[in-house]
Amino acid sequence: MIVYVGFEDGSPAVAGSGSLSRGCIPKSAAAAGNGRQRVRGVRTRVSTRNVFASAGTTVYMVKEVPEGAFSEKLQVPEALTFDDVLLRPKESRVEPDDADVSTQVSKNVDLNIPVLSAAMDTVTESDTAIGMAREGGLGVLHRNMDIEETVAEIERVKRADELVIDRENVVTANPNQTIAAVDEMMGREGVSGAPVVDDDDTVLGIISGTDIRPFLEVGESDQVSEAMTDEVITAGTDIEAREALELMYEYKIERLPIVDDDDTLVGLLTMQGLLQRRENQNAAHDENGRLRCGVAVGPFEMDRATAADEAGADVLFIDCAHAHNLNVIDAAREIKEEVDADVVVGNVGTREAAKEVVDFADGIKVGIGPGSICTTRVVTGAGMPQITAVAEVADVAAPEDVPVIADGGIRYSGDAIKAIAAGADAVMLGSYFAGTEEAPGRVITMNGKKYKQYRGMGSVGAMKSGGGDRYLKDDEDGEEFVPEGVEAATPYKGTLASELHQLVGGMRSGMGYVGAETIPGFKERAEFVRVSAAGQTEGHPHDVMITDEAPNYSPDS
Ligand code: XMP
Repeated sequence: MIVYVGFEDGSPAVAGSGSLSRGCIPKSAAAAGNGRQRVRGVRTRVSTRNVFASAGTTVYMVKEVPEGAFSEKLQVPEALTFDDVLLRPKESRVEPDDADVSTQVSKNVDLNIPVLSAAMDTVTESDTAIGMAREGGLGVLHRNMDIEETVAEIERVKRADELVIDRENVVTANPNQTIAAVDEMMGREGVSGAPVVDDDDTVLGIISGTDIRPFLEVGESDQVSEAMTDEVITAGTDIEAREALELMYEYKIERLPIVDDDDTLVGLLTMQGLLQRRENQNAAHDENGRLRCGVAVGPFEMDRATAADEAGADVLFIDCAHAHNLNVIDAAREIKEEVDADVVVGNVGTREAAKEVVDFADGIKVGIGPGSICTTRVVTGAGMPQITAVAEVADVAAPEDVPVIADGGIRYSGDAIKAIAAGADAVMLGSYFAGTEEAPGRVITMNGKKYKQYRGMGSVGAMKSGGGDRYLKDDEDGEEFVPEGVEAATPYKGTLASELHQLVGGMRSGMGYVGAETIPGFKERAEFVRVSAAGQTEGHPHDVMITDEAPNYSPDS
């Protein structure tokens, strides 16, 4: 039997007079008992208490739908991405080398280059994060690791180029330790020398691998006091980097214990740390002079967020594929209230989403499906072409001084600077860095060529390693994942520093073409032109066969 439910005014519903949806009649309608109450809502089962129908009956309810409502949906706004636009060249006196690319990644964190490495388990662990910060950018540690590992990774970044290593992090030896014990300790801690201190932390000497070596053969059980150099050179807490370097050269030493007025150890300066500093003048440092570090945390991972915050992370990135989910926003707000670090919320792709988070976020990250390894758009049918997404979010964020990060889809330096022109303050890249030496992915050899593994955090492999909740999926035992990313490989490249040199160099040149000397100035001055399919073809090398690969261009990018 088929029942049509009528309208309130008593007129019967007739097929064609409105849209019909299959379902059951709610109790309220059943109570009315006469079919005169207009029914809203759709359920799929027929209730046996229903006066109109017994179980198994198909019931149709009438919904009023304005005429043409569905075809109107097809009057769609256009959304653009990188290849659809080019920067309009403008009068300029700006030489690329003079362009200042420093920026804000979040309200309280500035960078010397506007570039971040993606929070992916084949892109950013501490080696990448150290390399990024040394070049002036920011690495965002992925979260496919347990919280203790996250803390250890943050500490590695923070310690990497520390000018003065704090006392609590200085590995020290005791004068009564045996040579064998101190040798084992130095190996375990990854240091090649250690100040020797007594129980009151007074510096008595210093011991290095060179001092130990002769004893290892013949006197392993001798005491440290016998092998150490006891005429130790120390410095006070007010020593400057230049002075320390001169002292180290003069006495041909690699470590300089820093002591207070009572000769108590308060820190350690190393030659390696000092030279590293000198080499990386552009590094991104926190207020204590340590390298900056970003960390991805799940929206519901309060424990990871507070642990990362305590370990000294500068920026926490709420790591979610769809941050316009209201539960995610509530959870992100809670995290923001608990931590001192800046909190960047993402990913979003529309102005409506930006409006929901702009009041509390220290930065907003944009990208719904543009990434090279993403299948979100094909799997879910949802997404937003990246240039439009960035512009919509920046429309909301810029007036509130909330920085915007364009995340994903950047293949060339030209894409990166277009993202900035569309309103981003910084860009985040995955595939661009996945092939570098510092990236954690394993090396694969195919047809005699070297590649590095690069996989989406929504790929089956990454989800199995714990990344499922980025896609708001529970990793229930035995259940098959519905991935939103693929597992792939990318050509093995050189160092992160050389990749960044090309990327940032191209961005600076883009600023030169537009005639803007700073990132904020560029965002204001840059204009786009729309590119046709023919224009796109014209923009790439054409009608030639490339004979020598350029360091910043590959036709398959
Ligand atoms: P690129 O294009 O730089 O993109 O390789 C990196 C960004 O892609 C996002 N990401 C994913 N998106 N499925 C997705 O839809 C995935 O499996 C996936 N893994 C990473 C992420 O925002 C990253 O920064």
